[in-house]
Amino acid sequence: MFNHTREGRSIAGLVVKLVAIAAIALGSVAAQAGIANTRHNLGANNAANENYMTSGATEICVFCHTPHASNTNVTAPLWNKPVQAGSAYTTYTTATSATIDGSVDMSGISLACLSCHDGTQAMDTMINKPGSGGYNAAGSTITGGVWTGTRQSSGQMTNAGEFISMLGTDLTNDHPVGIQYCGGGISTGSATTTDASTGTCRDADFNAPTNAIIGGHRAWWVDTGGAGRQKTDMILYARVGALGSDSENGKYQPFVECASCHDPHTENTTFLRIANTNSAVCLACHNK
Ligand code: HEC
Ligand code: HEC
Ligand code: HEC
Ligand code: HEC
Repeated sequence: MFNHTREGRSIAGLVVKLVAIAAIALGSVAAQAGIANTRHNLGANNAANENYMTSGATEICVFCHTPHASNTNVTAPLWNKPVQAGSAYTTYTTATSATIDGSVDMSGISLACLSCHDGTQAMDTMINKPGSGGYNAAGSTITGGVWTGTRQSSGQMTNAGEFISMLGTDLTNDHPVGIQYCGGGISTGSATTTDASTGTCRDADFNAPTNAIIGGHRAWWVDTGGAGRQKTDMILYARVGALGSDSENGKYQPFVECASCHDPHTENTTFLRIANTNSAVCLACHNK
């Protein structure tokens, strides 16, 4: 595309080139989410990730999603990987913080992120591999797949240098996930999915979440601007948690998960939903 060798000799040609480059640059900002250019492209046609397959799969989505026969044990869309049980993780709880209020229920979408980021299984372990005849409910790796990069070992994520991508199964040193929003949840009124839109935050240290019925279910998010629920809002993941005896536990509640702060497809630094300038990510939720 940039191979205009003869044009490059004249001023007019240079102007044409600059305009073309500017158009491409502007277009790319406006038009694409751009997962292909990120560390979440593990396929063989990859430039951005230091850990990727040099042979095996050239697809991008298949490392996480499958159009058919996905894993319904985890509430991640069309998930193509086996996940560990929530009990495999040691979570941030009252055992590690004197001030934590929310109950933790590790049954949500964080398990999907952790299916690579806990380092326990190869990142090409899939339920439905590319092409015909690649199905294995328990998951299997790509035949002939070869990995490269210093922060993987046989395709399993490891840490090297200053990177901490591999969080392990001990999450006591990580921001809580699988945890009720609002420091112990919101007052829900009832356990149904559609009630209780006016629920208030139990803990005033949190900004009130926005909510709406979307597709017949109550959805919550922390608004960061713009109309309605957007990828750049802090997404809360609603479910009934089996959380013990307190009055809001066991009811339909918004939870904070990895993908509340991160969008795995964005080109933003460290996959954050919004830039963390002046700690905007933290202050979206925490009223500090
Ligand atoms: C590294 C893992 C990963 C890869 C690779 C990936 N996704 Fe996702 N995707 C996720 C997770 C996790 C979610 C749920 C996150 C959320 O709730 O926003 C998701 C959600 C989605 C959604 C629904 C929510 C939304 O943001 O629109 C769509 C559609 C989607 N992915 C499409 C794709 C496509 C198409 C590709 C390939 C070009 C792809 N994904 C690659 C992890 C991945
Ligand atoms: C999506 C909303 C959300 C965002 C964004 C968020 N937090 Fe939190 N944070 C929570 C929730 C919910 C808890 C659990 C609080 C509780 O239950 O007491 C929590 C807990 C914490 C705790 C532990 C509190 C304790 O009592 O032990 C700290 C510290 C913290 N967050 C800091 C941060 C920082 C720093 C950022 C930005 C990098 C951030 N949070 C972003 C929702 C959020
Ligand atoms: C298919 C495997 C896979 C899944 C699933 C996955 N990731 Fe990743 N992720 C990676 C790899 C590989 C890297 C790059 C690691 C490295 O280079 O050390 C990465 C890097 C990251 C980074 C660091 C990016 C940077 O620039 O430093 C973040 C943040 C991240 N992932 C968040 C998530 C979240 C959140 C989810 C779930 C919504 C998720 N990932 C799911 C494979 C995965
Ligand atoms: C409350 C918000 C929040 C939640 C929840 C959260 N993260 Fe992050 N994460 C961040 C922020 C902010 C950064 C950027 C930190 C920095 O700039 O050093 C980050 C950075 C990362 C990185 C890059 C670390 C590095 O320095 O290389 C990875 C990988 C990552 N997150 C994965 C996850 C996974 C997996 C989960 C769920 C288990 C998760 N995050 C949950 C806010 C969050």
